[in-house]
Amino acid sequence: MSYGLLRGKKGIITGALDEKSIAWHVALRAYEEGAQILLTNAPVALRLGQPQALAEKLNAPLIPADLTQIPDIEKLYDEALRHFGGPVDFVLHSVGMSPNIRKGKSYPEIDYDFYQKTLDVSAISFHKMLQVGRRKGAFARGGSIVALSYIAAQRVFPKYGDMSDAKALLESIARMFGYFLGKELGVRVNIVSQSPTPTTAGTGIAGFEAMFDYANKMSPLGNASAAACADFVVALFSDLTRSVTMQTLYHDGGFSMMGIAEELLG
Ligand SMILES: NC(=O)c1ccc[n+]([C@@H]2O[C@H](COP(=O)([O-])OP(=O)(O)OC[C@H]3O[C@@H](n4cnc5c(N)ncnc54)[C@H](O)[C@@H]3O)[C@@H](O)[C@H]2O)c1
Repeated sequence: MSYGLLRGKKGIITGALDEKSIAWHVALRAYEEGAQILLTNAPVALRLGQPQALAEKLNAPLIPADLTQIPDIEKLYDEALRHFGGPVDFVLHSVGMSPNIRKGKSYPEIDYDFYQKTLDVSAISFHKMLQVGRRKGAFARGGSIVALSYIAAQRVFPKYGDMSDAKALLESIARMFGYFLGKELGVRVNIVSQSPTPTTAGTGIAGFEAMFDYANKMSPLGNASAAACADFVVALFSDLTRSVTMQTLYHDGGFSMMGIAEELLG
């Protein structure tokens, strides 16, 4: 059902890899709510072809950009400014990757070159998107920017490894940049901390199924789905949340407030 929440709004959505991706759901939902979308993903992801299908469905340009690369981000905003004829009202950062996790390196034994890559792709890319967008005048007054995190930024989930550090940095960047963009442009910057979700990135974590089942049992509402996450992100893009900024908002069925659930007491 559409409420027309994003009618007349224009935005950039990163990270829609396939139909399991959280960003894929957000793109569909934002479009349904009346937004015009520009999609972007890493060049290597675009070779797989699925993002192209989404772009066609949404009548959206699809711009290749490695979000660790400033020149790619500059081109991305140039394209957006040209395509929309002005600045964007919303941005979704939905990007994460850890070479340490991919190579099975435990947290105490991480490789430091990989660690730099994890932080660059999963957190510093957000700062870069905000810095370049601000410099290019690409954010409309009163706009809304959202990035996705996981509760391992706050609590220990051993197999989440160096992604935990990346998410803690991501949440800090949202807070810090939220201050500056709020003062300058009335732009909101928030983090949505999402339940375990069966996506390519999510299921790449060792023990994902056990983490998913545990969170599902612990959460009074059960795990939040990617589709529900999209609803929440769209609400944050909308004017209905115009005074919410610099927050880490838990979209997790109540998990983050739990100690132990009755089901787990045996
Ligand atoms: N799946 C979960 O359990 C879960 C839970 C909480 C938060 N998140 C976060 O949600 C976000 C989206 O992940 P997802 O679960 O939808 O998985 P996904 O694998 O569908 O999306 C990750 C995206 O990051 C993109 N990407 C990787 N490196 C990039 C780069 N250098 N430049 C541009 N794009 C790049 C990938 O191409 C992919 O589209 C991530 O930030 C992830 O950490 C996921």
